[in-house]
Amino acid sequence: MKILVVGSGAREHVLAWKCMQSVLTDRVFIAPGNGGTGGLGKNIQIPADDVANLVRFAKREKIGLVVLGPESAVAAGVGDALREEGIPVFGPGRQAGRIESSKSFAKELMRRAQIPTAGYGVFTDTAPAKAWAREHDGRVVVKADGLAMGKGVLVCGSVEEAERAVDAMLVEHAYGRAGATVVVEQRLEGPEVSLMAVTDGTRVLPLEAARDFKRALAGDQGPNTGGMGAYSPPADATAELVAEAVETVLEPAVRQLAEDGLDYRGLLYAGLMLTPDGPRALEFNARFGDPEAQVVLPRLKSDAVRLMLEAARGDLGPVGELEWDARPCVGVVIASGGYPDSYETGFEIEGLATIPPGVLVFHAGTRYLPGRGLVTSGGRVLTLVALGDSVAAARETVLSTVGRVRFNGAFHRRDIAQEASSA
Ligand code: AMP
Ligand code: GLY
Repeated sequence: MKILVVGSGAREHVLAWKCMQSVLTDRVFIAPGNGGTGGLGKNIQIPADDVANLVRFAKREKIGLVVLGPESAVAAGVGDALREEGIPVFGPGRQAGRIESSKSFAKELMRRAQIPTAGYGVFTDTAPAKAWAREHDGRVVVKADGLAMGKGVLVCGSVEEAERAVDAMLVEHAYGRAGATVVVEQRLEGPEVSLMAVTDGTRVLPLEAARDFKRALAGDQGPNTGGMGAYSPPADATAELVAEAVETVLEPAVRQLAEDGLDYRGLLYAGLMLTPDGPRALEFNARFGDPEAQVVLPRLKSDAVRLMLEAARGDLGPVGELEWDARPCVGVVIASGGYPDSYETGFEIEGLATIPPGVLVFHAGTRYLPGRGLVTSGGRVLTLVALGDSVAAARETVLSTVGRVRFNGAFHRRDIAQEASSA
């Protein structure tokens, strides 16, 4: 069958790569894709949120499965429009996708479904928001309600900091409309785990867990980014922990959505914090994580197309059937100098031909320019990924290779998965 992957990041590159491994796949299209996906399938110049043209293309090409990569495609309603045409889509509709695009929607859903999460309030006025923060001694997290490219979350340690965060969103409109409503919630402590699951609206099938590294610089310094690297599996995401999170977080969320009349078919991502009182849900995403997908999908031995197709048709097979490569996987992102703030693009990328076969290269902000070859075109440029007999071995393989990729201003974090590599 023909498959259409929507999006242009390294997440979409690994999805297209995984789809190409399936016996069910004849051909993969990526819309709009990047300089790497063009070598795997065919890039189609349609933006990820261009609903009408995506539907037209999928109908014309008789696409058998559409996989939604980025949140922008979910929020634009690409899933709804394709399903209306009877085309199987792996990815929720716009309303169900509000579990990611509106923090207050997500918190309200968690409250009704009794999902363990941080206590919170929702505010549009500064005075009650600040009062709530004061009651909690300023140890709060102030979140813009809407999508802010992963930047609309301010973790505060004092009343003063919290008041500044509230002002930044509600008075100075630093996050535009996304911050016109804020969620203020208790600040929790503990390691974080990304737990992604495939669901057909009823059954919930967890993937292996991952941990991502959100800050730009080593030692968790610098601003938040989309993610500078990841590894799978983190040792503290034990089978018991995953089972508990499925039972207390993911299944209740899908059940509550269904009760609300929202049929969620696709990937549901829970951002968890492992607290002394058990796992707590920090957030949901309505799609694969990036860079989590780049370190989880290479470990999946089962047929990803069959899995996504079953979910898209509302007909997921018996839970517990997924097969995994036991070897851990580590991924390191190479980014443009200045990312996540302003950065320049258009720099030639050299050295990719010297990457050894054991290292997977997933492209994000890259494109081919006739006559010049591969150049940078975004903030996160590439993810380099390796499997190994241990996290330490996988990490060593990636880190010893990453320096071979060169472009003006390139940087990466050298401490990805270091915490798990001492043994
Ligand atoms: P979110 O986009 O909601 O996942 O938030 C981004 C990051 O902010 C998370 O990965 C955490 O590191 C941090 N964060 C979010 N909510 C909380 C919370 N309630 N307590 C502590 N840290 C949080
Ligand atoms: N890596 C976190 C995300 O994809 O939202």
